[in-house]
Amino acid sequence: MKKNAKPLPLIIDCDPGQDDAIALMLAMASPAELDLLGICAVAGNVPLRLTEANARRVRDVAGRPEVAVFAGCPRPMVKILETGEYVHGKSGIDGADLPEPSRPAEAEHAVDWLIDTLRRADDPITLATLGPLTNIAMAIVMAPDIVENISELVLMGGALSLGNITPAAEFNIYSDPHAAHIVFEAGLKLTMIGLDVTHQARATPARLEAIRAIGNPAATCVAGMLDFYGAQYVSTFGEGAPLHDPCVIAYILRPDLFAGQEMRVDIEISSPLTIGRTVCDVHARSGRAANVNVLENIYADGFFELLGERLARLPKNI
Ligand code: RIB
Ligand code: CA
Repeated sequence: MKKNAKPLPLIIDCDPGQDDAIALMLAMASPAELDLLGICAVAGNVPLRLTEANARRVRDVAGRPEVAVFAGCPRPMVKILETGEYVHGKSGIDGADLPEPSRPAEAEHAVDWLIDTLRRADDPITLATLGPLTNIAMAIVMAPDIVENISELVLMGGALSLGNITPAAEFNIYSDPHAAHIVFEAGLKLTMIGLDVTHQARATPARLEAIRAIGNPAATCVAGMLDFYGAQYVSTFGEGAPLHDPCVIAYILRPDLFAGQEMRVDIEISSPLTIGRTVCDVHARSGRAANVNVLENIYADGFFELLGERLARLPKNI
């Protein structure tokens, strides 16, 4: 982001999820750069009633209770909902140890709010998506005109290489491949942050202890979540927790920490074996126009430095 620029109008769509929660904290700790217009929750890691409540818990611990949270779609557009408690725990943010939210979600459905907010926007809005793309795709189907007021959509999802929920597919895309197909075909300026990047951003013990040492409620919550989430990851994937979703916010704040290239990406929506695969045309073999900026590398130390510096800004008492 350019220095001294106006705060960027931003909407975050998420399925907290420990890593979503950390991404929300990073965004809410950066008000000089990000004008967070609202948080939309979607079913994904855990059911919607938990993802929306978790988003409200996180805004409290970040000292930003004024940020509006909207509940969105409770299931994917076509597939049935397959949640991820095996990684995130029953609550979705196991290890967080947060009190009940201080106030309710907004009454308006997230999809209606997205459409209304984008239609009324004076300046184009950046969308950061951290979960399945159901809310965004539903908004685009209901109101295709909103695409012109989305300046960019930065998503955590997909992979150039292996998947994580299946050998071929990453969880966010796999959860709602039809929604992803709609979003990838909508003509948006897209930046995809897939597993190839996020698995370079692992919370090693040293990085985790540096976060724990910050000592404010938000950092303590992050450390507790990473204790749980990291242990789940080791037992499932053999290595420490990759900070998938915070990479999206870090990219918006500091794109210089990342590198990638434009390419054609299509979503597999029919094969039972590879449904949800992001088919990335790295060598332009398809002859189809590039539609996505696919990130491939992150300067991980710089990312954790940014995360720690921003978490330290959050309130010492809540
Ligand atoms: O595959 C990783 C993604 O799935 C992350 O967004 C994580 O929160 C889960 O939603
Ligand atoms: Ca997520």
